[in-house]
Amino acid sequence: MQVAATHTSPRPLSDPMPVLRHSLAALCVAVAASAVHAQETRAARRQSKAGADSSAAARAAIGQLPAPASRGAYTAAQADRGQVLYRKNCSSCHAATAYTGATFAQLWVGRTAYSMVSLIRETMPNDDPGRLTKQQYVDIVAFLFKLNNYPAGVRALPTDDAALKRIAIDRR
Ligand code: HEC
Repeated sequence: MQVAATHTSPRPLSDPMPVLRHSLAALCVAVAASAVHAQETRAARRQSKAGADSSAAARAAIGQLPAPASRGAYTAAQADRGQVLYRKNCSSCHAATAYTGATFAQLWVGRTAYSMVSLIRETMPNDDPGRLTKQQYVDIVAFLFKLNNYPAGVRALPTDDAALKRIAIDRR
């Protein structure tokens, strides 16, 4: 699918540099980690291995750890709203299941919720991109998280860019 090429990922995953930087950052994190942060550190290392945005590894190194989507990044009510919106605005062209499983992992794992919201907002619906409100796009992404077995949590997926950038799409 050519659209993958329009992703804002800074470098291809095959580029050896980010891998090196990730390993170094993970090492720093490991050295600096206190017992309290051991769990976050493991998550950060997993992220590095998964080829996370290089900024995610950098943030991990300075202690602002990203929140993995696997720990609950949206609410159940939000995903329900997203499902209704998806049915109305998206399913005429592709079934939601077209973006689950391996396709989802290939497109999004290692990126942040911000890249997902941004790409969908800029390109979809294909015949009228940006037609929905940002809140609606965010709710649709919450629904796509649910479809991909990420658990619901107590906090809604935010609309704020800085907050979205802190939500790492880790492997399920
Ligand atoms: C008018 C038809 C149409 C509608 C409506 C539509 N899409 Fe798409 N969508 C497409 C097509 C066509 C592609 C494949 C683009 C390509 O590969 O060049 C696509 C691709 C995608 C992708 C994959 C992007 C990628 O990088 O490969 C996602 C995710 C997506 N759509 C989500 C949505 C969501 C969410 C909505 C509703 C807000 C939506 N689409 C509505 C036609 C549509």
